Amino acid sequence: MKGIILAGGAGTRLHPLTRGLSKQLLPVYDKPMIYYPLTTLMLAGISEFLVVTTPDDLAGFQRVLGDGSAWGISIRFAVQPRPEGIAQAFLIGEDFIGGEPCALCLGDNIFFGGGLGGLLQQAANLDKGANIFVHEVGAPERYGVLEMDAQGLPLSIVEKPKTPRSHWAVTGLYFYDSDVVEMVRDLAPSPRGELEITDVNSLYLRRGDLKVTRLGRGFGWFDTGTHDSLMEASEFVRTIQKRQGLQIACPEEIAFRQGLITRDQLAALAAAMPGNDYGAYLARLAKEAP
Ligand code: DAU
Repeated sequence: MKGIILAGGAGTRLHPLTRGLSKQLLPVYDKPMIYYPLTTLMLAGISEFLVVTTPDDLAGFQRVLGDGSAWGISIRFAVQPRPEGIAQAFLIGEDFIGGEPCALCLGDNIFFGGGLGGLLQQAANLDKGANIFVHEVGAPERYGVLEMDAQGLPLSIVEKPKTPRSHWAVTGLYFYDSDVVEMVRDLAPSPRGELEITDVNSLYLRRGDLKVTRLGRGFGWFDTGTHDSLMEASEFVRTIQKRQGLQIACPEEIAFRQGLITRDQLAALAAAMPGNDYGAYLARLAKEAP
């Protein structure tokens, strides 16, 4: 399965922070935001990525991520000239996807929780249909909202409803079979002029092909669309990391634990980052991790 990270958009809700820097390169505590969606998809077992961003921000992402080879993965880049919808990522990425199933993670979505890797790997194994992830939130009207029947089967998904039918928000993490490109090609833009990801999910739902994974209260999910939510995500990462002494969303660690890089390569990455806590963490891993 291929993986796309969507890291474009105008970032207007975070102005003036985002006037000089892409939103998805802003810090979430100690790392660029894009590390979080990237490592989420790495935990799913994906190793081939396409980062879709704006013409202005491309160079910044290339500087931060490189081609992925240092982490045993491959990262390519593509440009979305205008923010014409989340689902447009599949048209921009058509050649990259190459007829395979494909996952998409929004560049501003952060996931955390024990057992997440297993759930993600299950989703990445799909060969038919789609798998979305939902999480309960206090303010569902800000999101795509899933309505379910008494058995928990999906009934409808509505984008930013004024009167939400549940508290289950659709997160920005989606797994699709190889039909997705054709489905998006047939999609009409919404009244706000965007190719809506909610329309894609609704098509899979109508086809009877939408699997929903509920992330229960043991999981943390953040999007960083506002100054407050950006700060909350940073505080969360800082609190957990400090208490556990473990990094959240560390690509080097995941690459090492997945056998994508060797212990010597990890040690070399640590040595290239002297004089900071992150480098010290990598050095500790290279020495102690089983
Ligand atoms: O975060 C989850 C939510 O993400 C879902 O619940 C909604 O169903 C989904 O529509 C989306 O809602 P948002 O209001 O967060 O979408 P937004 O337009 O802010 O876009 C999300 C991210 O994707 C944002 O970081 C910018 C990027 N983006 C967005 C669009 C529309 C692009 O790179 N290109 C685009 O064309």
